[in-house]
Amino acid sequence: MKYLMRWLRDYLTNAFLYYIEKRMFCSSIDNYINLKLKKIFMFLMDEKEIRQLIINLVRNGLEAMTSGKFLTISTYIDNDEVVLTVQDRGNGIPAEILDKIGTPFFTTKDNGTGLGLATCYSIANRHNASIKIDTGTEGTTFHVRFRKVV
Ligand SMILES: Nc1ncnc2c1ncn2[C@@H]1O[C@H](COP(=O)(O)OP(=O)(O)O)[C@@H](O)[C@H]1O
Ligand SMILES: [Mg+2]
Repeated sequence: MKYLMRWLRDYLTNAFLYYIEKRMFCSSIDNYINLKLKKIFMFLMDEKEIRQLIINLVRNGLEAMTSGKFLTISTYIDNDEVVLTVQDRGNGIPAEILDKIGTPFFTTKDNGTGLGLATCYSIANRHNASIKIDTGTEGTTFHVRFRKVV
């Protein structure tokens, strides 16, 4: 695996633009993406993998929401660790499926592959990151926390 030194902040902006470009070809989605990027420090990451992780989480968030809602991507530092969050305003993840998501091929969607989150978990693992989910009737937030490498 090739690791690159990058600012996640710069990178996210690129991923965001890339996603916007893709959305122009997919007019069925009419939600909005909000970026709240606080300055974070550099850390080792695989550019392609982190892009895939962000796209998978953003896609799930957009798919969970009805039109006219905002999805928020944020970065910040907490306790000397870089945190990336993707927050949607969907209906939340039902408690009975919460421990099944991330299992390869588990999907509740007619055209789902059930591979999005499984991929996110393995990418997070390779980056020594943890994924925490906050979910409720107001929506869902995925927190990806990049643990300190000592
Ligand atoms: N942001 C979210 N809001 C609600 N449910 C979600 C969200 N993200 C994931 N899920 C649930 O987890 C399942 C698995 O997601 P994923 O692995 O990305 O596969 P897929 O999107 O192809 O179904 C989804 O089918 C959905 O039920
Ligand atoms: Mg998905």
